[in-house]
Amino acid sequence: MHILHVVGARPNFMKAKPVHAALAAYSHIKQTLVHSGQHYDMNMSDVFFQQLELPAPDVNLQVGSGSHAQQTAEVISRFEEVVLERKPDVVLVYGDVNSTVAAALVCAKLQVPVAHVEAGLRSFDRTMPEEINRVLTDQISSLLFTPSSDGNENLEREGIPSDRIRLVGNVMIDTLVRLLPRTAARRSVGLPPRFALVTLHRPSNVDDISWLGAMLKELSEISTELPVLFPVHPRTTERLRLTGMNGERSSLRLMDPLPYVDFLALQTAATVVITDSGGIQEETTYLGIPCLTVRENTERPVTATMGTNTLVGRSIPRMRDEVTKILQGKAKKGSIPPLWDGHAAERIAATLAGA
Ligand code: UD1
Repeated sequence: MHILHVVGARPNFMKAKPVHAALAAYSHIKQTLVHSGQHYDMNMSDVFFQQLELPAPDVNLQVGSGSHAQQTAEVISRFEEVVLERKPDVVLVYGDVNSTVAAALVCAKLQVPVAHVEAGLRSFDRTMPEEINRVLTDQISSLLFTPSSDGNENLEREGIPSDRIRLVGNVMIDTLVRLLPRTAARRSVGLPPRFALVTLHRPSNVDDISWLGAMLKELSEISTELPVLFPVHPRTTERLRLTGMNGERSSLRLMDPLPYVDFLALQTAATVVITDSGGIQEETTYLGIPCLTVRENTERPVTATMGTNTLVGRSIPRMRDEVTKILQGKAKKGSIPPLWDGHAAERIAATLAGA
């Protein structure tokens, strides 16, 4: 049996690694890894392959950056040739990035079965490019692996037969569990005793320059009480330049994007994480670290209902209030969702191996 994985952007790499490793235990399965090249910088891609110990991709489509249409179209046209040449039995796609939907569409048209890892998540907000990618990918996948039961409910409501859906748990947590022991050494070096860790890269937060400027001003204010560490995504770096702010006058420390283990180490030690990422809402829930999500909605509601996540929307006073509560020792307590146990990828591999 030949299984081909497609990855493209930073959050895909930590999801693909545990599945690739779990499938390696089955001698009848041959694996191919295709990188679309959507993310290409050393610190957005290569360093993740190194730290996660993902094998070098067999194929890199080198699509690079572009508009959504350009990027998606490039993956479609370049990936079709790979599928025709390599003839996989199943193609595994991950998450909700442009490379995910593009690869799934190629396979659906060629009638090659697609299995979607992290299926069923919905923000119900179609202004998010990721929501479009999720809905479309799920509709054309043959097998849908969900991280939590809300995913099953969403898929069934959209008419997907339940025999195609498997609740397996969260593969991102598999990687976290495996690499958590490596964070100890990094935690000890020069971290403030209390700090806020920030990431922002969603178009809804960074494309509106006046909102981004207001956020930065507030983070700068917060940093007078609580140091703020902010590894900046390349998309955000471009936008920050336009605000003319650089955080220099305060304890707001802007830095380059961090490798996986280094960022995980910061999460484990943070007093609060302020983010618009999806994966970080999940990681903080697993770690029991308070998370404030600067979005109006989340496709990962279990992190708010069971976990430590609080949606603060696009509201600076709300964010400020929640930070104050946390500093007063009144942080939200949470628990770990079912099947976020470090073994999700083994369940996926067992299903695929028996298919
Ligand atoms: C993509 C995903 C998003 C995910 C995020 C994680 C889509 C629609 N979005 O968003 O869901 O949360 O990845 O990072 O697929 N850039 C570089 N170097 C790189 C990659 C990007 O400089 O290695 C810059 C380029 O200016 C590029 C911009 O970042 O235009 C945006 O990259 P892109 O892959 O289009 O989207 P992300 O914002 O990273």
